[in-house]
Amino acid sequence: MELLEGELEQIQKETEDILQHHGTERQELIPVIQEVQEKLGYLPQPAMEQIAAALNIPEVDVYSVATFYNQFRLNPPGKHQIKVCMGTACHMLGGHIILDSFERRLEINEGETTPDREFSLERVACVGCCALAPVVVVDEKVEAKVSPIRVDGILLTFEIEKKEHEMKNQEGGGQEE
Ligand code: FES
Repeated sequence: MELLEGELEQIQKETEDILQHHGTERQELIPVIQEVQEKLGYLPQPAMEQIAAALNIPEVDVYSVATFYNQFRLNPPGKHQIKVCMGTACHMLGGHIILDSFERRLEINEGETTPDREFSLERVACVGCCALAPVVVVDEKVEAKVSPIRVDGILLTFEIEKKEHEMKNQEGGGQEE
């Protein structure tokens, strides 16, 4: 994932600050990456390199730990976060087809973020409303009995909102809110 302007400096600074509060033993690895994720919202590649160097361990070890635990994400969260439920009920009622539809429409795989960082897509375990299966949670809002057509509808709504927002900014002399 390409970094935005000034992002590398910010990642390095935040990671350095966190490393300062920890020792350099290997057992610090998980607490350090937890804190980095909390601070930055994900574990960027340069942060993992920095952590490996500080703890004197191979980069691949940091990467293995980060990918082993579900709680860590390697891509930045999108402006809109789409979580497709893959619990048993949702899976049985076509959750994988819904995930597939999002992947095709957004041109990313689950666990990834679109290059413009508008959307991130992930699969989650049962979100506790199986009667509404298949379920998708979009920015905390539960979408019930989702069909592939609804997938298009959800994304279209965001696209229209974005266009309206851009037009409003243009009318307002190009000033951001
Ligand atoms: S399995 Fe999807 S809400 Fe329970």
